[in-house]
Amino acid sequence: MSLICVDKENCNRDGLCAQACPPGIIRMGEDGFPEVEKGAEDFCISCGHCVSVCMRGAMSHERLPMENFLPARRVKPEAAGEVAELMRGRRSVREFKDTPVDRHVLQELLDTARFAPTATNSQKVGWIMVEDPAATRRLAGLGADWLRGSNIFPRYVALLDRGGDMILRGAPHLVLAHAPADYAWGAIDCTIAATYLELAAAAHGLGACWAGLMIRAVAQHPPAAQALGLPEGRTVHAALMLGLPKYRYYLVPPRNKADVSWL
Ligand SMILES: Cc1cc2nc3c(=O)[nH]c(=O)nc-3n(C[C@H](O)[C@H](O)[C@H](O)COP(=O)(O)O)c2cc1C
Repeated sequence: MSLICVDKENCNRDGLCAQACPPGIIRMGEDGFPEVEKGAEDFCISCGHCVSVCMRGAMSHERLPMENFLPARRVKPEAAGEVAELMRGRRSVREFKDTPVDRHVLQELLDTARFAPTATNSQKVGWIMVEDPAATRRLAGLGADWLRGSNIFPRYVALLDRGGDMILRGAPHLVLAHAPADYAWGAIDCTIAATYLELAAAAHGLGACWAGLMIRAVAQHPPAAQALGLPEGRTVHAALMLGLPKYRYYLVPPRNKADVSWL
């Protein structure tokens, strides 16, 4: 079976599938219909653009069953303002209610984050969702052990000694994104995916905050990686504490103007 299948009754031969193909392996054949260049199948990144761009539904892809495609609804122009409000109004939340977040909401966040872009559509990001608040507390404790031994942030160590959770801020949940240690785009793919998840959390009214100290603890304190069950050969590049926020913010604090050179 060929990598792509063209329904010639429906294909209008507009060539959009060939234009949209990132590695340029689709070309218009002598009969005017799209075809994959001989021997180029291995360069396909399975991004599904050739199928998604066809307004006639004339294209299918061997590796991407049609029933797994979702409708791409046109987003109204007013949504741009809403999205900007969401992005500006999101805050790093560090005070959480004790009530845990329902699993179906946590699942929905992961389900949105999996649509984040990844280099060559490699989709190598893996997640660890710490759903059990008791497990989150244990991990915060392991992070604190690392911080005490690390000699960085003496101020945070003093606050730990006063009973503060400087690692996960008492959050009920923690989510971590990991990638193969030898994958060059791992840090970037994980960061983008976690940023998608953070914004989805804000849209759901949840509070999130990057847990940079936890990322360092996992890298430098083996008991933390063990407690997570981090698979061998994987590196954690992103971590977010998550929960229901205890209070809301009424203002967007000022940030530097974009430092930009226009060419
Ligand atoms: C990579 C990264 C690591 C961070 N690590 C922590 C952390 O360990 N603990 C924490 O309380 N906040 C952490 N933050 C949150 C920043 O302090 C926060 O984004 C910044 O103060 C701006 O506030 P805002 O996110 O509300 O705009 C981290 C943020 C980033 C981007």
